[in-house]
Amino acid sequence: MSFKLGEIEQALGSQLIDVRRNLHQEPELSYEEFKTTEKLRKWLTDANIRMLDLPLQTGLIAEIGQGAGPIAAIRCDIDALPIEEQTGLPFASEVPGKMHACGHDFHTAVILGAAYLLKAREDELPGRVRVLFQPAEETGHGAESVLASGGLEDVAAIFGLHNSPEMPAGSFGTRTGALTAGVDRFEITVKGIGAHAATPENGVDAIVTAAQIITALQTIVSRQNKAGEPVVLSVTRINGGFTWNVLPEMVELEGTVRTYNEEIRRIIPEKMTRIIEGIAAAAGAEASLHWYPGPPATINDGYWADFTKEIAKQSGYEVHDIAPQMGGEDFSLYLQKIPGAFVNIGTGPAYALHHPRFDVDETALLPAAKYFALLAEQALVKLKEEG
Ligand code: NI
Repeated sequence: MSFKLGEIEQALGSQLIDVRRNLHQEPELSYEEFKTTEKLRKWLTDANIRMLDLPLQTGLIAEIGQGAGPIAAIRCDIDALPIEEQTGLPFASEVPGKMHACGHDFHTAVILGAAYLLKAREDELPGRVRVLFQPAEETGHGAESVLASGGLEDVAAIFGLHNSPEMPAGSFGTRTGALTAGVDRFEITVKGIGAHAATPENGVDAIVTAAQIITALQTIVSRQNKAGEPVVLSVTRINGGFTWNVLPEMVELEGTVRTYNEEIRRIIPEKMTRIIEGIAAAAGAEASLHWYPGPPATINDGYWADFTKEIAKQSGYEVHDIAPQMGGEDFSLYLQKIPGAFVNIGTGPAYALHHPRFDVDETALLPAAKYFALLAEQALVKLKEEG
């Protein structure tokens, strides 16, 4: 099969909408993206695009271009969420309890479209483009498997996208430095001594102790942290007790800490432990912190962030410098190893990400595909100039 650019672009818009809807109807959760990967293999094979042979169970990396020139990468994520869709769309999820509620179906269609466009210009490319369809972004571990697979070796610049329901189609946003936060999860166990509710003096009240811990943890943000360095500490779950007249022995808490600063991120568990253990000791209880590190903050390289904006302007986007967000994104792991930038593509107005009525403006699809094809090609040109 061979392509001419004009012919492709004409049909590409509606083809990408079909791709996005097809993926939307059959959402798959993190590391379960087997059908999605199969579909991608077929679509890429039909377009005569080669794929790398990598030890990835789900997700894949294609490659376009040849020769010893530089290598750039463009990345999308392909997984869905455990959410029951409520959009009522004709192409709504056919899988109960699963939904593309973060728009990764949109991302996948965009990057597939970019791959088609790059394939049409394969002979002109001054290097190679790795086209990464990443699994398991939502769990924060997909990027680790991709890095471990070796599929990004020798990549000199990497770019990724997220749709933004807060910006209309036709808008583009990014920034130099932190764009999304480091996202860590914690669990706290508070162990007291159970007692009859009428005689608390015979026990150690885990509930009152947990309540004090919850309140005191906020002083890390308000009293122990520099005001100019944003930190969010949220306790999101409390479990303890069975009935009205018994003080339980145990209370469990769970939550998350978000920050852009790696150093703060490292010291927060120590500060939390001091508060947790101190309050527990004062009450005669025992308490401990369990820490589950997630992806670090997404830190955009200044040079490449400016470059993505420049190409966006050339592509007719309304370009914004956006504020950093406290959400997480495991693209950050690539940026720790490879310079590049993560950008937001307007697809709103719509319900928020992860909302059961979330949707995207599909008119944003083709322009975003064209943008990523141009971005990858121009990045190769730049990389080659720099030698
Ligand atoms: Ni997402």
